[in-house]
Amino acid sequence: MQLIGEVAALAKALDAERARGREVGLVPTMGCLHAGHLSLVSRARAECGAVAVSVFVNPTQFDSPDDLARYPRALEADLEAAAGAGADYVFAPPESEMYPSPPRVRVEVTGPAAELWEGAWRPGHLGGVATVVTKLLAAAGRCRAYFGEKDYQQLVVVRRLVDELCLPAQVVGCPTVREPDGLACSSRNLRLGPEERAAAPVLWRALCRGREALLAGERRPGAVERAMADEVASCPLARLEYAAVVDAATLERPPVAAGELRLLVAARLGAERLIDNLGVSLG
Ligand code: PAJ
Repeated sequence: MQLIGEVAALAKALDAERARGREVGLVPTMGCLHAGHLSLVSRARAECGAVAVSVFVNPTQFDSPDDLARYPRALEADLEAAAGAGADYVFAPPESEMYPSPPRVRVEVTGPAAELWEGAWRPGHLGGVATVVTKLLAAAGRCRAYFGEKDYQQLVVVRRLVDELCLPAQVVGCPTVREPDGLACSSRNLRLGPEERAAAPVLWRALCRGREALLAGERRPGAVERAMADEVASCPLARLEYAAVVDAATLERPPVAAGELRLLVAARLGAERLIDNLGVSLG
């Protein structure tokens, strides 16, 4: 496996792979790789002739300098994990390689799918994601790009970005990998204290309660959202930010629950903020 730190070197290496007839798979990450990330790398390995994993803690998507400073970093362990899952390249650029100082271009996705939920609770976050993903995809060139459903709104925003900017990538959405107790794997889980970690599966329980209500015939989004919020409220350590029933494509709340839906939840546990989601199909 090759470690690359420069955009030009990544572009050259992946051009050479394509010239040899290999399809390129790209897995963008912020590192501190866990089973969720590695499921994306394994999927890319199974589907592509060459696999590149990017590891870049992107400063423009953090809404507080403190959160950026506390974000876990573990490049040595990431190199080993990426190699173990079958990556051919790890692209780990310094900040100066991705952003000139000061940055002069920013990519914004507009409309409800980018402005609701995470868009409203973390202003600037999805714009920072859109900016860095555009750069990574531009550097990588024609590829299949793997993203997790764990960050469902990010996946929807990236699909829109790729579509509207005609980027030569095929976006592949991958299912969420969970711990045995239901907690979605996340680099942020490492920052939970023992009590917070024990309480964290409340997000998953809230999603399951919302799904149960829908499958039992409840069609009022407000009633389903109340059931989810009640579940979160049952945990004294958790502070709910939102619990929502949304259309899986537009991310807007439907007047009546029907068709392809996504349940979204965001809550704080101490200093950490966790998000999770679950798809429900009402046929
Ligand atoms: P990061 O949080 O490191 O996640 C990298 C990729 O792994 C994302 O596509 C994310 O959805 C996916 N992922 C994370 N946890 C997962 C889980 N439990 N199961 C399946 N997939 C999971 O998301 C980002 O980084 C950044 O915003 C990025 C896209 C790299 C842009 O900076």
